[in-house]
Amino acid sequence: MSPEIKTTPLALHKRYLKLIEITNDLASTLDLDILLDRIVEAAVDVTNSMAASILLYDEASNELYFQYSTSLDSPLMKGLVVPVEGSIAGAIVTNREPIIVSNVPDDPRHFGAIGKTTEIEIESLLGVPLITQDKVVGVLEAINKKIGEFTEDDQDLLTTLGSQAAVAIVNARLFQQSDLIAEMVHELRTPLASISTASHLLMRPEISEMQRTNMAETIERETRRLSDMTSSFLDLARLESGRSQFKVQQVDLINLLEEAREIMGGQIEAQGLDLEWDVPKQLPTFQGDQDKIKQVILNLLSNAIKYNRSNGSIIVNAFSTRKWITFSVSDTGRGIKPEHVDSLFQKFFRVPGSDKVAQGTGLGLSITKKIVESHGGNIEVGSTAGAGTTFIVNLPLDPGS
Ligand SMILES: Nc1ncnc2c1ncn2[C@@H]1O[C@H](COP(=O)(O)OP(=O)(O)O)[C@@H](O)[C@H]1O
Ligand SMILES: [Mg+2]
Repeated sequence: MSPEIKTTPLALHKRYLKLIEITNDLASTLDLDILLDRIVEAAVDVTNSMAASILLYDEASNELYFQYSTSLDSPLMKGLVVPVEGSIAGAIVTNREPIIVSNVPDDPRHFGAIGKTTEIEIESLLGVPLITQDKVVGVLEAINKKIGEFTEDDQDLLTTLGSQAAVAIVNARLFQQSDLIAEMVHELRTPLASISTASHLLMRPEISEMQRTNMAETIERETRRLSDMTSSFLDLARLESGRSQFKVQQVDLINLLEEAREIMGGQIEAQGLDLEWDVPKQLPTFQGDQDKIKQVILNLLSNAIKYNRSNGSIIVNAFSTRKWITFSVSDTGRGIKPEHVDSLFQKFFRVPGSDKVAQGTGLGLSITKKIVESHGGNIEVGSTAGAGTTFIVNLPLDPGS
């Protein structure tokens, strides 16, 4: 008798107990990231495998997105598109059946990019569809059985876990969406009320020409704000749901900073601001999404302009250390009181009184933080009320480390 057969019954019993414990836990988790993390950890535990991944399926685009893995080396992996046509995960979605592959490199459907980016040599694989209410939400894959090959028992266990996981994922998404939508609707009310009042007053015969112009300006300004809000909101919703796609390429930060300087040059001049450019001639490149990093720079520069004093200055600084590339944007503006600093990155938050200084939606910094964190980086803020503010962004040169 092989030692494997002797240990299997007990191990299997324990694995079922583990599964029950985990599925109870899943039902109570509404945070999508925590949930996905628990699901992949659970998949590893119940199948005795080395790693596990989750891919989510988007019906509208008929695409699978790599979402989470126990060995997610690079946060940029999140959102990597895996073709439905011709991939193992795609076959699981299409056939709605589990698949066991004992020699993955030999399988023509193997989608190499995942292995490359997770730096895992995928040998064996067990994948199950995540189905709830007759809809495929995604695919759960256990990778590399620790001893021997994936069995029917593994498949049963992972299928059970998968069906619980599918329900939990859908619940978490609904919760997230309803939360976000409620907030959005709440925020839409203010500009809508201004527009409604202004247009109503415009129709009154007794208002002066000057008042009329004022009303028209209000309508124009608030309409622009609504439009900014909807596009920023969409950006944020995509980032939060993990549906934002990152085009990963070599990023040259100096180029991006220059481009941002060109875009914002006019506004900087118009406000009579002095721009100090403390950027070296050369910096190492790193893996990331150019457009998204540029958006980060533009958001910070736009704030440094908006919340500056007239004839103040902006300082842009960049440098690299062994593992990090850092850039900062400083201004000589109104600063932020310590009691508001913690709220800066919250959706829709604006320091009280900001609407009198400049137009805004309160979404720029939440988007900025999400993008930076998706690159494995972090953002810090230092501010002295009445004197100025500095935002510092640190990005890892190697997002996988
Ligand atoms: N450089 C800065 N100086 C002072 N206050 C700032 C600065 N950057 C951001 N803030 C404050 O943080 C709030 C949130 O910023 P952000 O998310 O970019 O939204 P928005 O600029 O659209 O208002 C701003 O409304 C402002 O009150
Ligand atoms: Mg802003």
